[in-house]
Amino acid sequence: MPIFYGKASLMDYLKPLKISHSTIGFVPTMGALHQGHLALMQKSLAENTNTVVSIFVNPTQFNNPEDLAKYPRTLDKDVKKLTNLDPNIILYAPTVEDIYDGKPVSESFDFDGLENQMEGKFRPGHFNGVGTIVKRLFEIIEPTNAYFGEKDFQQLQIVKKMVAKNHLKVNVIGCPIYREANELAMSSRNERLSVQEREEASIIYKILSSVKEQFSKNSTAKISEWVQKSFDNNPNFTLEYFTIADEATLLSCSRKNKNKKYRAFIAVLVNNIRLIDTISLN
Ligand code: PAF
Repeated sequence: MPIFYGKASLMDYLKPLKISHSTIGFVPTMGALHQGHLALMQKSLAENTNTVVSIFVNPTQFNNPEDLAKYPRTLDKDVKKLTNLDPNIILYAPTVEDIYDGKPVSESFDFDGLENQMEGKFRPGHFNGVGTIVKRLFEIIEPTNAYFGEKDFQQLQIVKKMVAKNHLKVNVIGCPIYREANELAMSSRNERLSVQEREEASIIYKILSSVKEQFSKNSTAKISEWVQKSFDNNPNFTLEYFTIADEATLLSCSRKNKNKKYRAFIAVLVNNIRLIDTISLN
């Protein structure tokens, strides 16, 4: 499998592949690859002539140094998974120096307010970091199509906004959430949970499924109260936020409008490990 640690050699390798009618699919990741990542790659492989995967734990999107330090880094295992999936995948695993040229700081973006909700409120600066790295990766790779999981739905909307505002020529494609057998959304952070915590974390999707059932019958205030109570009864989990929001603006919904698409968003702390999930409601 072709592996590149620096952008110059990757760009040289990609240049002859950018001929007419050929396409480059791109899956950006921070590694610790799981089935959810592999599903994005399978879609890219099926839809494009070439597929590039990046593995880079981007320091500028972490507002919590402990979270950055503890983020799983499993490059050797990841390379084996990629090779098993398809040895033609092109891997870009850059160093911080290669991406940031000695200055690991974020650019400042205006995402029309999408950045001020949910993850943006609880992780200040996070989306400037995401915008910075995704824009740089798009500029280096110039993909035709880029694949993102819907678990990070706010990130997906922000990347679409960044692409539109910067007139980048890439199709941003959202892909369904992959879940473990107990319906916990797949995430690299799940590796940090104990077996028991991982099992108990199935409560998150159970609650979201019940929210979906309640959505047509109850007010969003009543549903939010019920969610808070469900976590109050569960001392191992701390609810960071729960909100029902408009999919397009990500603004919280107090009164439902039948012409809008809504989604529930949740972030929960289990033993200081942050888990997020989301479900479409209508
Ligand atoms: O979703 C992620 O893993 C990261 O936020 C991304 C898109 C790879 C940027 O670092």
